[in-house]
Amino acid sequence: MGWWKDTIEIVKEKDPAARTTLEVLLTYPGVKALAAHRVSHFLWRHNLKLLARMHSQFWRFWTQIEIHPGAQIASGVFIDHGAGLVIGETAEIESGVMLYHGVTLGGTGKDCGKRHPTVRRGALISAHSQVIGPIEIGENAKVGAAAVVLSDVPADVTVVGMPAKIVRIHGKKDEEAIRPLQEAREASYYSAKL
Ligand SMILES: CC(C)(COP(=O)(O)OP(=O)(O)OC[C@H]1O[C@@H](n2cnc3c(N)ncnc32)[C@H](O)[C@@H]1OP(=O)(O)O)[C@@H](O)C(=O)NCCC(=O)NCCS
Repeated sequence: MGWWKDTIEIVKEKDPAARTTLEVLLTYPGVKALAAHRVSHFLWRHNLKLLARMHSQFWRFWTQIEIHPGAQIASGVFIDHGAGLVIGETAEIESGVMLYHGVTLGGTGKDCGKRHPTVRRGALISAHSQVIGPIEIGENAKVGAAAVVLSDVPADVTVVGMPAKIVRIHGKKDEEAIRPLQEAREASYYSAKL
């Protein structure tokens, strides 16, 4: 029951439109997709890989949310709306994370092995943002709508734009603190490319 309790609680906590448990269970495609992912992930881990892929594709058809069966997703994650959301095979998502429709947690097409993002506890990934590569979105970080994120995002910051840049730390526009953090992100991005 713990998984269901966590999943229903986070929807009620984060979505003012959610009124009752029954409504959450019946009308939130993200809840259905995450519940189905538990089954496909079980099949994947037990080496029933084709069955796992078929199961996840079946639920993609019903929910418009595509989660690879290999993705590791904690309980207490909220997918709001969800249409067009894609989560790749080696993505990891911790509890308290909120994802909207149109989000991609994808690969660059250049990496092997771990090639999808890790999203730490409490992070918000807004609608249509594209988070690409084996990067980390830090705890309680916010990614603005339609951002394209190509490098690690530290905890407790907001990033927006394409490519995404830091615009807030702890919700404040503190330019002195933002500049070195942003420069460090850019340096690590370019050194990883060398
Ligand atoms: C980024 C976001 C999460 C807000 O985070 P925040 O830390 O409160 O940041 P703020 O609102 O203070 O905005 C910080 C700056 O980024 C800008 N900004 C905010 N969202 C942006 C976006 N998606 N793209 C580009 N710039 C954006 C703001 O104008 C502000 O600019 P300024 O520094 O010149 O004043 C929010 O704006 C957002 O994108 N929400 C979308 C949520 C969503 O997907 N909703 C779908 C519901 S169906």
